[in-house]
Amino acid sequence: MKGLVLAGGSGTRLRPLTYTGAKQLVPVANRPVLFYVIDNLVDAGVTEIGVIISPETGAEIRKALGDGSAFGARLEYILQDRPAGLAHAVATAKPFLGDDDFVMYLGDNLIGMKIREAVETFRSDKTFAASVMLHEVPNPSSFGIAEIDASGNVVSLVEKPKEPKSNLALVGIYLFRKSILDAIAQIKPSTRGELEITDAISKLIALGGTVKFTRLTSWWLDTGKKDDMLLANDTVLDDWLTGGIDGTVDAASKVSGRVRIGKGARVENSVIRGPVIIGDGVEIVDSRIGPFTAIGDGVKVVRSTVEHSVIMAESSIIDIPRLEDSLLGKRVVVRPGISRHGALSLMVGDDCVVELSQD
Ligand code: TTP
Repeated sequence: MKGLVLAGGSGTRLRPLTYTGAKQLVPVANRPVLFYVIDNLVDAGVTEIGVIISPETGAEIRKALGDGSAFGARLEYILQDRPAGLAHAVATAKPFLGDDDFVMYLGDNLIGMKIREAVETFRSDKTFAASVMLHEVPNPSSFGIAEIDASGNVVSLVEKPKEPKSNLALVGIYLFRKSILDAIAQIKPSTRGELEITDAISKLIALGGTVKFTRLTSWWLDTGKKDDMLLANDTVLDDWLTGGIDGTVDAASKVSGRVRIGKGARVENSVIRGPVIIGDGVEIVDSRIGPFTAIGDGVKVVRSTVEHSVIMAESSIIDIPRLEDSLLGKRVVVRPGISRHGALSLMVGDDCVVELSQD
C-alpha cells in the first residue's frame, strides 16, 4: 500500500500567503498542515509516499519534508506541470503507483482522527474497488456530495450539487486500487477545465466497481481559506497541544492554561492565556497573548495584545492595543506610524486585506 499526497495546486483562496509559499506549509499550531498528513499516513503503516508538487512551490515542499526519514517515511516527489485537477495528479503519479493500492490524501486537509482502521480494512478486503471518507456537513451545495444506498455502497458523487441527495461530503482522503487509473483514462475535463476525482470515481462505479465509505466521526478542516486556517488552529490547539516551557518566563509574567513556549523564547512582564503555542526565539514583552494563538519562531510582540490569531515566523507587533482574528504571514511588521494627523501609512502586497477598527 502506497501513499499519494497532493501538495501541488494553486492555492488562490489563500492569497497573498500562497504568492510566496505553498498553502500546505502554512502552519497550524506552528506546524505545517502537510506534516500532520504525513504523520497520519505513517501511523497507518503507509511509509512509501509519493508527493505531488507544482513547479512554483515544489522546491519549498521538498525542503520542508526532505527524504521523509524525519517522519519514518520514504518520499518520492512527482512534478505535476499544471494544476489540472485531482484526477490529473493521480494520472501523473502512474509510474510511482505501479500496481499497488494507495491512499490519496489532500495535503491541505486536516482531520481529528487516525486513518489506520480504514486503511487496514481496505488492505484486507479486496472485494471493493475504492473507499471514500464522508463527513456530514450543514451546507452540502458547497462540497462534493455522495449518495449512498442501504447496503453501504456509494452510488453517485456530485460536485457542489444544486439539489444535494445527502449531506455527506467527500473528505480529501481516498483509498484506491490501480483500477482508478483506467477510470481516469476514460474521463474528460469538467467545465472548470480540471480532471475531477468525483468524475473518476463515478466512472469506476459505472464500470462495475464497488465503492464503499467510512464515516469521519471527528472534525475535518480544509485549510484553504483564512477563517478555515484560524479554525484549524483553534481546533488543533484545543485538542492536541501539550503544555511545556523551554524558554524563560520572568517573575512579573503570568502563564495560565495549556501553553507551550519554545527554546530561547523570552516572556517578560506579560500575560499568556492558553491554549497558546509560542515558537523558538520569540520575545514577548509587556504584552498579553491568547487564548487560541500561535506565535511562530523569532516573532517579537511588544506592548501589544494578540488574541485568536496565527502570527508566522519573524513578524513583529509593536504598540498595538488589540490584534485579534488575524492571520499574519512571515516577517510582517504591525506598528503605529509616525504620522500625527490620523493618516495611515501602509506598505501592503497584492491581495492583502487590512481591516481597521471602527472605534
Ligand atoms: P484545491 O484546494 O481543490 O485546489 P487549489 O490548491 O488549486 O486551491 P484554490 O482552490 O484555492 O486555488 O486542492 C486540494 C489539494 O490538492 C491541495 O493540497 C492542492 C492539491 N492539488 C494538486 O496537487 N494538484 C491539482 O491539480 C489540484 C487542483 C490540487
